[in-house]
Amino acid sequence: MDARFMDKINKEIKIEPKDWMPDKYRQTLIRQISQHAHSEIVGMLPEGNWITRAPTLKRKAILLAKVQDEAGHGLYLYSATETLGISRDEMTEQLLSGKAKYSSIFNYPTLTWADIGAIGWLVDGAAIINQVPLCRTSYGPYARAMVRICKEESFHQRQGFDILLTLCRGTQQQRNMAQDAINRWWWPSLMMFGPPDDASPHTAQSVQWKIKRFTNDELRQKFVDICAVQVKTLGLQLPDPDLKYNEQTGHYDFGVINWQQFWQVVNGNGPCNKERLEARQKAWNDGAWVREAAVAYATKRKEQEQSIAKPAAA
Ligand code: 3HC
Repeated sequence: MDARFMDKINKEIKIEPKDWMPDKYRQTLIRQISQHAHSEIVGMLPEGNWITRAPTLKRKAILLAKVQDEAGHGLYLYSATETLGISRDEMTEQLLSGKAKYSSIFNYPTLTWADIGAIGWLVDGAAIINQVPLCRTSYGPYARAMVRICKEESFHQRQGFDILLTLCRGTQQQRNMAQDAINRWWWPSLMMFGPPDDASPHTAQSVQWKIKRFTNDELRQKFVDICAVQVKTLGLQLPDPDLKYNEQTGHYDFGVINWQQFWQVVNGNGPCNKERLEARQKAWNDGAWVREAAVAYATKRKEQEQSIAKPAAA
């Protein structure tokens, strides 16, 4: 069965929910897609923090649309994960208990309006680099969910860059605010791609199963190359004195990433980890009545349908 499975993978035949798959393939997908979904939902929190303080009605409307998009991304991805045999409640319990991860990037605070621009440009920009290849991932429901998600991510990245460009064309104070936000979000954005390939326990197998089409380092490098050019349009600097175009490789060399900080944040000790999980726990508790009402309504409807379907007693 393994040989037939790998033959399908190598022939680019999508694996569908009802197909046979190695249990490790299933578990890796449940891990990655559910954590991806958790990231989308938790990612709404840092940005939601600025909806009531957006500088104009237009910016408020754009940010509202973006945060709503992220909720939708989470729902597509939870639905894709459910096709692998895990329930929404189980996934929620894994997030709230700290068993499951979500992206480290969402454990940083959004201190100024410029952070919303830096998140759009850098965080959603990194997400696009990481997620476009996932449109070709070997698991069908995941690949299909990613197609629509990536279209919306492009809008997220553009609106973020537009916020920064507007600030950079403003006063010196606004330019300083934009530079400060880039200084704080640049290195954590590089960490979004995961640990270096030689420290990644999953990458080799995920590439062989075509869950991943590129390695963490390959995607990180692609992201650095793009941002090193785009930042020039802003007239700002990326906070890396070692960033330099390498004629030999055709890529930008960049400085050393602080992996100790990365693992500290991943292991729950980042600036906002506690606040993020408390917010998700509160949302789960506050939403209990909605879940109960929906179940009661569905149960009542089913009873009514069954009573109608029952042949009238003679
Ligand atoms: N934050 C938290 N944990 C991370 C991480 C990060 N940035 N990068 C890696 N990890 C974790 C992995 O989950 C894994 O832990 P686990 O075994 O407990 O799951 C461990 O570190 C080792 O990392 P690997 O690189 O070996 O793990 P993966 O092969 O899973 O690669 C990944 C990590 C690149 C994030 C991959 O899971 C992936 O591509 N996921 C799908 C995309 C995704 O989740 N993006 C997160 C951001 S969502 C987003 O940006 C929303 C947008 O709207 C802003």
